Amino acid sequence: MFETIKDQIGDVKKIIFVTGAGISQESGIPTFRGKDGLWRNYDAMKLATIDAFYENPKLVWEWYNERRKNVFAAHPNQGHKAIAELEKYAKVMVLTQNIDGLHQKAGSTEVLELHGSIIKIKCSVCDFRDEILTEFSEIPPLCNCGNMLRPDVVWFGEPLPQNVWQKAIVSASECDLMVIVGTSLVVSPANTLPIYAKQNNALLIEINPERTEMSSDMDLTIRSTSALALPKFISVLKEN
Ligand code: APR
Repeated sequence: MFETIKDQIGDVKKIIFVTGAGISQESGIPTFRGKDGLWRNYDAMKLATIDAFYENPKLVWEWYNERRKNVFAAHPNQGHKAIAELEKYAKVMVLTQNIDGLHQKAGSTEVLELHGSIIKIKCSVCDFRDEILTEFSEIPPLCNCGNMLRPDVVWFGEPLPQNVWQKAIVSASECDLMVIVGTSLVVSPANTLPIYAKQNNALLIEINPERTEMSSDMDLTIRSTSALALPKFISVLKEN
């Protein structure tokens, strides 16, 4: 799988993983656009936007409550664990579009959540925010200030947290290897991260069972699932 680039990855120092829903698929969390995609049953624009939240907060919260239940029951898979283990051998940072916290659960310590976290909740008006691991009995849940609470995630049309995005761009621009795992690379600005890496002459590797819009820009594409490919990739890196 990785023989062709074995020597090229020999002396990489800074490795960035850009991950998407596909890396959590083998933990039982459906992707958005893949064949088992979440969006197949729902219209994303009716559930993951600020307008949808104010138009029908109950529906949006029903969807997020269901997803929260799924996430709380999910465990990191071999792909998450391989990335976490790699921290013993190289400088690793994970730039994830996922909101499920599985990279952190697997032991990764350098994780930027580009689209926020479904475990974190914030008030839609005041500055209250907290990690809440229990289910809400009544929805939409209310803040002590009386306004609706919402998942601390980035909805379509909302900007990414500026401090997080700035750090992500800097890391992508400084790495010498970027591994893009389980993402269709259709959502911006996350899908610009490989461009920043390429501008720094980083090696680009894509791990995805399906082709993506940027597959032809990659130095190596591994048509495999992440739970199968990542442990193999890590063992090649460890040999160097
Ligand atoms: N291993 C690796 N990749 C996989 C696996 C797997 N087991 N299963 C599916 N995939 C791939 C699919 O082929 C697809 O290319 O994962 C990708 C998932 O793509 P999307 O469903 O579009 O998810 P993602 O790229 O993370 O979406 C980006 O869009 O909906 C918004 O905010 C949401 O963060 C999300 C963003």
